[in-house]
This record gives sequence, C-alpha cells and structure tokens, in this order.
Amino acid sequence: MIIYRGRVFTPVSDPFVSGEQPAWAYFRGGYVAVERGKIVSIGDWKTRSERIAGETVDFGSESLLTPGFVDTHLHAPQVEMIGSFGGHLLEWLERYTFPTESRFADPEHARRVGSFLFRELLRNGTTAGMIFSTIHQEATDIFFEEAESAGFRGIIGKTMMDRNAPEYLLEDAEASYRGSKALIEKWGKHPTLRYAITPRFAPTSSPRQLELAGQLKKEHPECYVHSHVSENKAEVAWVHELFPDAPHYVGVYDHYGLLDSRTVLAHGVHLTDDEIALLAKRGGRVAHCPNSNLFLGSGLLPLRRLLEAGVLVGLGSDIGAGTTPSPFNAMADCYKVQQVRGDVLNPFQLWYLATLGGARVLSLDDRAGSLEPGKDADFLVLDLQATPMLEARTVHAESIEDLLAGLIFIGDDRVVRKTFVQGREVSRRI
Ligand code: GUN
Ligand code: ZN
Repeated sequence: MIIYRGRVFTPVSDPFVSGEQPAWAYFRGGYVAVERGKIVSIGDWKTRSERIAGETVDFGSESLLTPGFVDTHLHAPQVEMIGSFGGHLLEWLERYTFPTESRFADPEHARRVGSFLFRELLRNGTTAGMIFSTIHQEATDIFFEEAESAGFRGIIGKTMMDRNAPEYLLEDAEASYRGSKALIEKWGKHPTLRYAITPRFAPTSSPRQLELAGQLKKEHPECYVHSHVSENKAEVAWVHELFPDAPHYVGVYDHYGLLDSRTVLAHGVHLTDDEIALLAKRGGRVAHCPNSNLFLGSGLLPLRRLLEAGVLVGLGSDIGAGTTPSPFNAMADCYKVQQVRGDVLNPFQLWYLATLGGARVLSLDDRAGSLEPGKDADFLVLDLQATPMLEARTVHAESIEDLLAGLIFIGDDRVVRKTFVQGREVSRRI
C-alpha cells in the first residue's frame, strides 16, 4: 500500500440535485491510500484506521489531491489546427478541418500526433476521454496504441463519413462498417480502452451508412456511439433538408438505433424540448464544449434544461474547435456561458461536471471520476502555489469552495504536478 498525503478533495454525488448532500468530501490534512492500482481508502490522516499503513508520500498542504479530469469530447487529429479562425462550423470544417484530417492517411503523421496528444492530455490533468479519430483505420489503430502506451483511458473511434465532404475523406458505407468492425474486434475487450462507433454527424452519413452504424451497435451493444448534434443553426437546418422524414435531429440517430445510454452527442446547443425528452428517454448523453461553442460562435447551451430533463452532461474540450485541452478552461468557460444565460454555477458543480459527472456520461464511474474506495486510483496532485497569481489567491482562500474557484479561473497546466492512472504515475511536471 502507498499512502499519498496532502489536501484531498473529491466529488461523491451530483451537486445539481438538491437533497443529495453532501456532494463532495474534503480533508485539509488528508490521505489517499492506494494498493494494486485501486483506492483502498481516503480520509483524514490524523484519524485514519490502524490498517492504513505503508510507504507514505507527503505532498504537503500546498497540494490538492483530486480525481483525474474527464474530457467527454475531442478530436485527436485536430490538435495541430487549434485556433483556425474566421468561420462558423460549416465553413470551418470545409476550410480547415477536412484538409487537416486528410493528412492522417499517413501513419507516421498519426503516430507523431497521437504520441504528443495523449501525453499532453495527461500533462493537463485529463486521465480519460472520448475521442474522434479520422476515417483512417490505421491512424485510429495508432491512436489506440498511443493511448495505451501513454496510460490514458480512452474511448476512441474511427470516423464514419460517406457524403458531403471532399472525396479524399469519404469511404463507402460498407468499407466504413468493415473498418470499424475490425477495430472493435481488435480493441473492444481491452481493460482500459473502449471503442466508440463514430458517425461524424448526420450530414456526412448517408442513410445507408447510419443503418450500418446501427447494425454495428446491434452486433456490439457494449460499444459506445459518439457523434455531434445540434451545434449550429445552419447545421440543424441542413439536417432537416437531408432527412425530411425525421421528426428532428436527435430523431435521425434514434431512427437508426444509435441512441442509448452509451451514446454521447457533442454540443446540443439548439436542441428542442422534444429532442431533449427523447434523449432523456433513451439515456443519451451530451458533451458540453463551451470553449468550442464560443470559438465557433455556435451558441450558449441551456445546461439547466438538459439536466432538469434528466440528460447527463459532461464537459469536453472539443479540440480543435476548442482552443485548449485544459479542464480548468472547460470549467471556467462553462461558468461564463451560464453566467451569460443568467444561471450561476458554483465551483462544486463545475468540478463535478469535469470529473464524476464526465465519468458518468462515459459510463466509467464504476472505475473513475472520484476518489472512493474500490475505484481505480486515477488522481492528480495539484500545486496550489504553481504560479505567483495562484499563490496570491490560495493564501487568501477562506474555504474549499473558494480554493476551487481560484483553481478554476486561474489554473492551467502549470497547476498539475503529477498525474496518476490506476496508481501509476503517468505524467509529472518538470
Ligand atoms: N461537427 C461535425 N464535425 C465536427 C468537428 O470536427 N468539430 C465540431 N466542433 N463540430 C463538428
Ligand atoms: Zn467535435
């Protein structure tokens, strides 16, 4: 057993649900005891049980131990195009995204980007995430290998597209089905990696391709479904033209059997009440990507409406429309977007969305998302004095709520001193 000492903060339940208090635990002089990659116990060091004994690593009271962050939506191939400015979604895809993704036909390029990306995510404190690849089977295979070698808990999928994009990014529906299936067979039973059936979004898949994606889901019900929905008004109008018989955008995915509790749809900014009700009924989840929604000018998510309808929501960086992998930024932008909508979120709610809430969205909460006995030891050591500004802020923090607020709005990758996944140190600040 190894015992890590420091301040310890973890969400334990949903702070958006009143009456479920307390939704978090905090120990100023705390510890996390880890054995064979799992958390044995956490608590107050002074009042620990005698059974908590072993090698001790003390990070001191200027450190905060907290669960690894969960990024519920990002695009591996888009890291090198962050900040491509000027267009809204559909122009941005045509002008920058499709040409960038074409480069992943080259396995060496995929290897270089994959090797960088997973280490960069861990360095930022993200230990788990749901990830788009490109249409390329080999590049997707390489992303799986790189996630495995970095120690990242990834849910990854090969993008399915067979229309409304340049020829070089299209693949016929049958080939895309076969390529996805081969990857499911290779990676589907991995201990920490999972497969997501990944139609890019309704406009780039023909009805036949969506049908085959639904068939894959039937054949492999344990697989996730990862796509986009209702991000941008022009996109929504286009979906109505392309699928005139569907009741709405969410209804397209539902028609093809792509909607269940393993479905994660990015954005959902412009969802109607009917669509939200259908998502809730099927158990589908939404990845909220506030940085991307601001960057592309897509809109402001009605977060509270989704949560109140019973739809689970997590945070996503949506790299490369999002401009940073940092979960601190995702929390801060989430706060600001809701502020503009007139809805005030507190630090516990923001931290929950970025950790346990995200793990619930990805159905990983039996193993990750919080520091609780029996879960895998996926945790971070945050440095409360990482920068002069942060030090100035934390010195005056009057409560854990105030301390978390300081981290959310001032924090970035410099705060993350160490990252552990399954008890193994996978990243350390140099
Ligand atoms: N909708 C379809 N593809 C994409 C993408 O790559 N990024 C974003 N933000 N939205 C999309
Ligand atoms: Zn996206």
